[in-house]
Amino acid sequence: MADSIKIDFQAPAAAEGGDIVVFVGEALKPSPAVAKLLGQKAVDLIAKVAAVENFKGKARSALTIVAPSALSADRLVVVGIGGEKDRSELDWAQLGGLVAGKVNGKTATVWVDLPGVTATPENVADMALGVKLRRYSFDRYKTKKDDSKKDGTGRFVFAVPDPAAAKKAFKAVDGVAGGVAVARDLVNEPPNVLGPKEFAARAEALSKLGVEVEILDEKAMQKLGMRALLGVGQGSSRGSRVVIMRWNGGKAGAQPIAFVGKGVVFDSGGISIKPGAGMEDMKGDMAGAACVVGLMHALASRKARANVIGAIGLVENMPDGNAQRPGDIVTTMSGQTIEIVNTDAEGRLVLADVLWYVQNRFKPKFMIDLATLTGAILVALAQEYAGLFSNNDELAQRIAEAGRATGERVWRMPLGPEFDKMIESKFADMKNSGGRYGGSITAAALLQKFVNGVPWAHLDIAGTAMGSPQTEINKGWSSGWGVRLLDRLVRDHYEG
Ligand code: BES
Ligand code: MN
Ligand code: ZN
Repeated sequence: MADSIKIDFQAPAAAEGGDIVVFVGEALKPSPAVAKLLGQKAVDLIAKVAAVENFKGKARSALTIVAPSALSADRLVVVGIGGEKDRSELDWAQLGGLVAGKVNGKTATVWVDLPGVTATPENVADMALGVKLRRYSFDRYKTKKDDSKKDGTGRFVFAVPDPAAAKKAFKAVDGVAGGVAVARDLVNEPPNVLGPKEFAARAEALSKLGVEVEILDEKAMQKLGMRALLGVGQGSSRGSRVVIMRWNGGKAGAQPIAFVGKGVVFDSGGISIKPGAGMEDMKGDMAGAACVVGLMHALASRKARANVIGAIGLVENMPDGNAQRPGDIVTTMSGQTIEIVNTDAEGRLVLADVLWYVQNRFKPKFMIDLATLTGAILVALAQEYAGLFSNNDELAQRIAEAGRATGERVWRMPLGPEFDKMIESKFADMKNSGGRYGGSITAAALLQKFVNGVPWAHLDIAGTAMGSPQTEINKGWSSGWGVRLLDRLVRDHYEG
């Protein structure tokens, strides 16, 4: 949600009040410059308290000294960095997250001078990113706010030698933090509040950042022949939408890149209804679409020099008298027919039409789709990796690299004719489920039938985008997974 976390940069000076954060290695000594600012008494205090508390300055550990006698600060937070010298971008962000988790006060002054490590302005910016991601909160529906909760608030002052350079580096990164928050918010919102129409309106708000937004309603989709997508939404009283977002930051006329998201605002399973336990989680079945909106926010905020298409299919999968049945056969926009054998395998039906549409209308350099597509991907990869399927080794490799850099990791899974065989139908060109075995693979195999040679990658994010494991930079139910990954992919390979 619109946060009130303030990030400032200034030259190092003795701080008055609030929390002070300093870094030490295993020698338990801050850098000489920080030691000077703290004064000898405070340096001695750190050593003394460290001995009492058995604090060794190891990486990812911290020691808090409340009301330090030698300082006017409320708390002195001593963060260990161990013996680490090479710190990746992710390390910096996680360090920022750790700091944000340890400080308590309204204001924290972080003396970014790590013993034996030089922090570049970009490193400082990544730390600030970590702070923002860690402090994200979604409490819109809590009528009693908990005063002791520090999420969503706080002022962080990074004391650095070149505040102007750090500020500049942070500006680009802040757009990404904003994009992650947008994605997390959309996933967290309850499904009664966020139907297809309301989701589309949220995407439309991107026009404030210079993104062109176009919304297709059911009439427009009917005209285009998107009957696979419309079939999924026909059991819901809320009409489906497709939203096309365009960010033209690249050369005029240059071939765009495209991102496509599954936006099932609620997945009851339809007539093949899901069991009741945990069904509330299916409000998050639009995390792919949320990621695409968050990514467009990030790219537009930092004025990425690339032409980018974002396309999302927004539907609700519900059972009513008009709902799609098992046994139905639908004709997709591509002309291919699909036999519906399970109405709960709906995401692939939505994507089939959106992928086809995007590839034919925009002729993109590549398409990447994101979808909370299968429970089977959780069986295969738990919540640590998203499943990656691709018809293009270069694209797959680039995504994997961006995954390692951002910590939003992917694991490549297979495609091939033997899997296509598993979705052959007696009555139509294909069926929408190949059964339990290789459930994520046969889902991807269906998507591939709607990709015509364009380099394409599919990310199955059912395990990574929602019900997320807690990390230093995410404490929420939704992670905003994919925004940082794809922003990084664009930045590394498709700008300029
Ligand atoms: N939205 C679900 C997949 C899902 C499961 C997302 C768990 C997030 C967490 C998808 O539409 C679905 O229901 N898939 C079925 C496919 C099956 C019917 C072939 C599944 O995974 O069971
Ligand atoms: Mn489903
Ligand atoms: Zn679904």
